[in-house]
Amino acid sequence: MSIDLPKVQQDLCAANELIHFNNAGASLMPKAVLDCQFEHLTLEATIGGYEAANLRSKEISAVYKSAAKLINAQTDEIALVENATIGWFSALYSIDFQAGDKILTAQCEYGSNYLSYLQLAREKGIIIEVIPSTSAGEICLQSLQDMLDERVKLISITHIPTNGGLVNPVEEVGKIATAHNILYLVDACQSVGQIPVDVKAINCDFLSATSRKYLRGPRGAGFLYVKQSKIAQLNPPVVDVRSATWLDATHYQLQCDAKRFENWENNYAALLGMGCAIDYALDIGINNIEAYTTPLAKQLRQRLNDITNVTVWDIGSKQCAIISFSVDGIEAADIAEQLQHYQINVSVSRPTSTLIDATVRALPNLVRASLHYYNTKEQTDILLKSLHEIIDQS
Ligand SMILES: Cc1ncc(COP(=O)(O)O)c(C=O)c1O
Repeated sequence: MSIDLPKVQQDLCAANELIHFNNAGASLMPKAVLDCQFEHLTLEATIGGYEAANLRSKEISAVYKSAAKLINAQTDEIALVENATIGWFSALYSIDFQAGDKILTAQCEYGSNYLSYLQLAREKGIIIEVIPSTSAGEICLQSLQDMLDERVKLISITHIPTNGGLVNPVEEVGKIATAHNILYLVDACQSVGQIPVDVKAINCDFLSATSRKYLRGPRGAGFLYVKQSKIAQLNPPVVDVRSATWLDATHYQLQCDAKRFENWENNYAALLGMGCAIDYALDIGINNIEAYTTPLAKQLRQRLNDITNVTVWDIGSKQCAIISFSVDGIEAADIAEQLQHYQINVSVSRPTSTLIDATVRALPNLVRASLHYYNTKEQTDILLKSLHEIIDQS
């Protein structure tokens, strides 16, 4: 089955002229997602916030089901959170690290994640080791094998890094983590909604996701998956009346499901919007989304490569719909700004977002064009034509 593009485009709120290639930043919400939030906000304003949440409790519960279905998990393995970082951070800080324990991560690791490892190194004396990449750019599985010893407590990697187009072999890493009984955390912030993500196939203990990127949900929402069999041994960094029950003056009991990673107050309009966006993506089919976006991006990547003055910096044996490039003599921020005059949105990815990789590969500031299934070949033609004009005028 292919994507019903006219329907998808009818569902957009944006003007026809807008070419949105900033889907790895925040993609465009379908009308249904906007309406769902608006409806809940209206209900909150009309009858009261707590009363609205009570009235919509079934729909709120359904968000857990949708998120679980999307990644092939159980509903009690899902925590609804305000963004991927909070979910990821709660997972990391729930692990009982001791001085000398090792975290193995990937060369393309995301800045905020690496900052947390550095904090743990400073506060608890953990050791961070970076798994080298293959010459193609993904995690080198042999190197990972060779780095394992009894001090490795966690393997923590990003599925699709912020830039570089790479899809890391998370399933293969999962096999290694499972065989050695090592905890495994996957940042799926940029893969969920873009390509199939199946926690059983990946065999991870934790997986974090955000609403606003490839899921086309609102900003300020995300979810965390935690494998049921591991929940009992994990102590979330923040405990409140949602994640725990207060028993008496000296005791509390943590929730026995993934709700121990949640906190009490929530933006229910955003969470319901995320649920609606997940259902929308499931209706289209994640396989269909990948089958549409990956070749579209591949073709654009090749055509960008053909332009003298343009360098495409993408890596990996398997690549996704995120393209990173630079233009000789023109700053990435200037390219992004000038493309806005053509009603084309792209973003700029700076070395500090993936500093280890950026240092190894001497990456400049990059223009990031991230495609989704509502983008078209005609839109990529316009991007290329506009880029040629910008280069000619410089
Ligand atoms: C790879 C990766 N992980 C995590 C995040 C953080 O997600 P959030 O902003 O939802 O916390 C980002 C955001 O750009 C990202 O690119």
